[in-house]
Amino acid sequence: MNNILLIGTGRMAYQLGHAIVKSGLHLVGVAGRDLEGRERLARFLDSKAIDLGKPLPAADLILVAVSDDAIAEVAAKLPAGDTVVAHTAGAIGLEVLAPHQHRGVIWPIQSLSHGAPMDLRDVPMVVDASDDRARRTLLNLAKRLSEVVLELALEQRQRVHLAAVLTSNLPVWLAHEAQRLLREQKLPPSLLTPLWKTTAAKAATFGPEQALTGPARRGDTKSIQHHLDLLANEPGLRQVYALLSEQIMRAYGHGER
Ligand SMILES: NC(=O)c1ccc[n+]([C@@H]2O[C@H](COP(=O)([O-])OP(=O)(O)OC[C@H]3O[C@@H](n4cnc5c(N)ncnc54)[C@H](OP(=O)(O)O)[C@@H]3O)[C@@H](O)[C@H]2O)c1
Repeated sequence: MNNILLIGTGRMAYQLGHAIVKSGLHLVGVAGRDLEGRERLARFLDSKAIDLGKPLPAADLILVAVSDDAIAEVAAKLPAGDTVVAHTAGAIGLEVLAPHQHRGVIWPIQSLSHGAPMDLRDVPMVVDASDDRARRTLLNLAKRLSEVVLELALEQRQRVHLAAVLTSNLPVWLAHEAQRLLREQKLPPSLLTPLWKTTAAKAATFGPEQALTGPARRGDTKSIQHHLDLLANEPGLRQVYALLSEQIMRAYGHGER
């Protein structure tokens, strides 16, 4: 695989593009619909900015790193041929890349943002492909980018995606809400940062079983009730707190509340 064309200028394109260039592979261009976005990313990746509406350069692999809902639309506009066309969405099938013959997915199990470029070498890369050619091309790329590569078909990818949301997005939302509660008390949200960092590091190093502490794990219903009272004006958050506490209590044999 000599030439890769990257479509998209968002978070995935930024981080994946950086990892591709760093691995020594050649990006023939960065294609996007937004002029400023594609020029900025192309400059950063030392590549060429390409207007998505214009003819695209030849490539061995086209990576369609656009929003889930736009993948089919973008893929449908790509010229049919021998090129392998892949998207980067964990929970989406290969059929959105029809009518391309060689279709696939390369999905890093990581939360990707703008800002500092990330090292993806220890980030698991999930590959799925419609045929041998796409499979070889994507495995080759994945192994250049990461030391952890696995092949998963759609059903398993969707389950892993669900697990990824459970372990990453939902706790981050809880942290967002926790910071809001502190701000409302005119306290700096950074008060929680050491706790958050240590908890995540402990869970990652020793497993969630070791990392979990707190009232629900101890079966401390008095504290839980007090917290629920404090959340009287926050019905949504109160419900989340009650439900999660109930799940933890049950898991640790403290019975139903
Ligand atoms: N970020 C992550 O943590 C992460 C992790 C794993 C997988 N993914 C997957 O990576 C893919 C891209 O996500 P992202 O996080 O990079 O999203 P993003 O930051 O919101 O960027 C989305 C990109 O898609 C482009 N786009 C949207 N609609 C388009 C259309 N109709 N035609 C052409 N381009 C269009 C946007 O262009 P404009 O700027 O012009 O709107 C932008 O370049 C998704 O499939 C997502 O599931 C993301």
